[in-house]
Parts: sequence; C-alpha cells; structure tokens
Amino acid sequence: MTLDVLKSLSLTRITIGVMVLAGLLLFPPLAYFCGAMMILAGLTGFCPLEKLYTWLLGAPASCSLAAAPGAGRAAGQDLQDMSADQIKTAVAEKYSAVARTPGAKFNFPVGRKFAESVGYPADALDALPAAMWDSFTGAGNPQPYVDPRPGETVLDLGCGAGLDLFFYAKAAGNGAKLCGLDLSGAMIEKARSNLEACGIRNVEFLNVSADAIPLSDASVDLVTANGIYNLSPDKDAVMREAHRVLKPGGRTIFAEIVLKSALPEEIRKNISDWFRCIGGALPKAEFVARLTAAGFREVKVLWEGRNARTGHELAVCAVIRAEK
Ligand SMILES: C[S@@+](CC[C@H](N)C(=O)[O-])C[C@H]1O[C@@H](n2cnc3c(N)ncnc32)[C@H](O)[C@@H]1O
Repeated sequence: MTLDVLKSLSLTRITIGVMVLAGLLLFPPLAYFCGAMMILAGLTGFCPLEKLYTWLLGAPASCSLAAAPGAGRAAGQDLQDMSADQIKTAVAEKYSAVARTPGAKFNFPVGRKFAESVGYPADALDALPAAMWDSFTGAGNPQPYVDPRPGETVLDLGCGAGLDLFFYAKAAGNGAKLCGLDLSGAMIEKARSNLEACGIRNVEFLNVSADAIPLSDASVDLVTANGIYNLSPDKDAVMREAHRVLKPGGRTIFAEIVLKSALPEEIRKNISDWFRCIGGALPKAEFVARLTAAGFREVKVLWEGRNARTGHELAVCAVIRAEK
C-alpha cells in the first residue's frame, strides 16, 4: 500500500484499532492506554498519535475521534473518484460544519485570530458579534482594495458568515443593494442573522452555487469574493457567471490563493486539500488567463502576499481586480 492510501484510510484509526486488539489479546494495559487516548481526543480534540504522524509524514493523518463534524465520509476521498456535484456537496457539508461548530478542529484556520492575522483590525472585530468572525475562513483580506460606492449593487460570492458583506454594506450605505451567495445553508443562515443583528436590512441571500447565479444579466456593479474559486470544481463557470451578472463597466475584486508554480501531485488529489483551498489552486498566470477567457479585461493583481490560509510554500494570497 502506498503512503497516500495509508493516509486516506486514516493511520490513527488503524493504529488505535490494532493497539486495542493487541492489548486485549496480549497486554491489557495497552487497551487501557488506548481508551485513555480516545477519551483525551474526544474531550479536547488533541490526539497525540495524529501529532506523531504529522511529524513523521509531514501531513495530517486525521484522528477520527478528534475530527471536525462533517469531516467524516469525504475527508480522505480521492478527488478523481468524485463528480463535480459530489465535491460541491462535500464542500457545503464542510463549511456548514464550520458555521455550526467553528471551534471544532479543521485542516485550515478558522475565526478571530486568523482574521486578525490577515489584517482585519481588532477594534473593528471587537465592535461586531462574535458569530460574525468566529467562522471566518477567507483566503485573505480584500477589504483595503474593495471599493463599494454609495447606492451600488454588490454581490459577495461565497459570503460565509457575512464578515466582508458587513463592511461592504457600511461602505455602500442604506441606498445600496447587497447580496450574499453561498452553497452552505448554515453559512447563509448565520450571515442572515449576523447582518440582521447589526441592523443591516438592505441585503438578500442566495443559497446556491456560484456556477449558476439566479440573477439577471448586467444587474450588479461589483462582484466580490474571499476564497470561493478554489473550492469550486468549475472555476470557469463561476468566472463566466460573475462576468454575466456584472453591468458593462462593472468590476470584480476578490482575494484568492494562487500558486507560484504547479503543486506536487499528492496535494492535488485529496478532497481534504480541496477543503483547505489548495487542492484546487491554479498558477497565477493561468488564473488570470481564465478570467480573460471568461470575458474580463484589465485583469490586475492588486496585492500579493503571505498565504496565511494554507501555509504552503508554493501558494500566495492575491487580491485580483478585473472589469467587464
Ligand atoms: C473559504 S470560505 C470563505 C467564506 C467567507 N468569504 C469568509 O471570508 O469567511 C468559502 C465559502 O464559499 C462557499 N462556497 C464554496 N464553493 C461554493 C460555490 N461553488 N458556490 C457558492 N458558494 C461556495 C463555502 O460554503 C464557504 O462558505
């Protein structure tokens, strides 16, 4: 068996099973030790075996007992065996788990510390309900580059729990029309209640996939996003849809993880690497070329910097702007 197959079967699960059996048959204290480890993992999310395997193999081999809700069935699945619809279902389940249990363990950063690390100011976050930032999972911080103008129609693709939408609503004012779109129903519900709690009424939500946006052609001034393309199996369709709904002269400004060069094959194979927005990442030049092929012009990388989201040495976070 290859290392990848072993990893996908979850080494920790196999090891705990073997130790329990060996303990019961040969050396009972081993079975007690395993029991204690399972209780520790269940109560605290800390799994010593997982740490050991991460250290030995250089990548997490998920601890079944400490795994996040929603991690289950799809966690180790090979992308080649999954249809686009299955990938979208798995993504929706995973990000719904982030919305419902943001404090659980995920293989990507979630929440307040991460938001601060990519540049969201602590005092701005302090002024918001915790539910607004506790499930933040953006690719970075597009805020300094996104320029919603008073009265504009703004569509945020993959809006999550609504942190970016909140700032756009404040900048565009009461006369604006905002729309948050997300595949995850739990994220949409959380965003709706977050914005309501902040008194923002001029926002609607769409619980659909961004590759088929139920809005009319040329109806939006600004399409934003913070980490949606790498989770979408059909990036070209998302780009075409963003372009279609924009008014002539409209713009898209978003943050996404892009690559300095192609990734090793093993990082591109597994759904768990897709969840952390790296498995589906494209080299920067290819990303820009695809936006152009979707009809965008003036495609510019406004900022490029540390990739706090996935931490891979070949990946950077980019803020990209393009026009219709
Ligand atoms: C990386 S998270 C970022 C969420 C949010 N923008 C933030 O900054 O916290 C990506 C979000 O996009 C949603 N998503 C992924 N693929 C999608 C798709 N094809 N269509 C719509 N939403 C999608 C996920 O459910 C998730 O909430």
